[in-house]
Amino acid sequence: MAKRSVPERFSWAVGTLDLVPSHRVLEIGCGRGVAAGLVLDRLTRGSLTAIDRSAAAVEAAGRHNAGHVSAGRATFLVAALEKAAFADASFDRIFSINVNLFWTRSPARELEVLHRLLAPGGSLHLFWEPPVPERVSEIIDTVVPVVEEHGFEVTTLTGRSSTGAGLVSVVGRPRP
Ligand SMILES: C[S@@+](CC[C@H](N)C(=O)[O-])C[C@H]1O[C@@H](n2cnc3c(N)ncnc32)[C@H](O)[C@@H]1O
Repeated sequence: MAKRSVPERFSWAVGTLDLVPSHRVLEIGCGRGVAAGLVLDRLTRGSLTAIDRSAAAVEAAGRHNAGHVSAGRATFLVAALEKAAFADASFDRIFSINVNLFWTRSPARELEVLHRLLAPGGSLHLFWEPPVPERVSEIIDTVVPVVEEHGFEVTTLTGRSSTGAGLVSVVGRPRP
């Protein structure tokens, strides 16, 4: 079967995660599991846990990454972030792509959970690919202050896809 090409937002995002093979990674809102697959290809000793509140998405993501699941390195769970029950300091990298945690309501509860779940030295990466690149600065202006208010030091990365869409990553590292 011909291998489908991977949308650019996934390779751009995963390329900025600065992964090492032993990392424990959490993806929020994994959709069909395409980014999860790119992460898993880089984790020879680590693991990936991916959650999505859609059962259909989790089912598709598990199928897409069936080899990694049976090897015991990937877990796909139906869960909403705000209710996810993971132990503190469980993850070295946490990321999401195109998950709108910041527009529908206050993300205070979610950011509190994310802060707690990061292991020392860990980081949070929130990615978006707005079709209109002018939205990148709007996303930064909206998201950065909220993440900073919840105990993170924040940096941003921006780019442009070959189709002209914007690419943005808001990176949070828990303040000591
Ligand atoms: C726009 S889709 C993006 C999917 C994938 N990351 C991508 O870039 O193609 C957003 C996904 O996030 C999930 N989602 C939204 N809010 C969530 C939450 N609070 N907890 C878990 N999953 C969530 C949705 O079910 C959906 O699958």
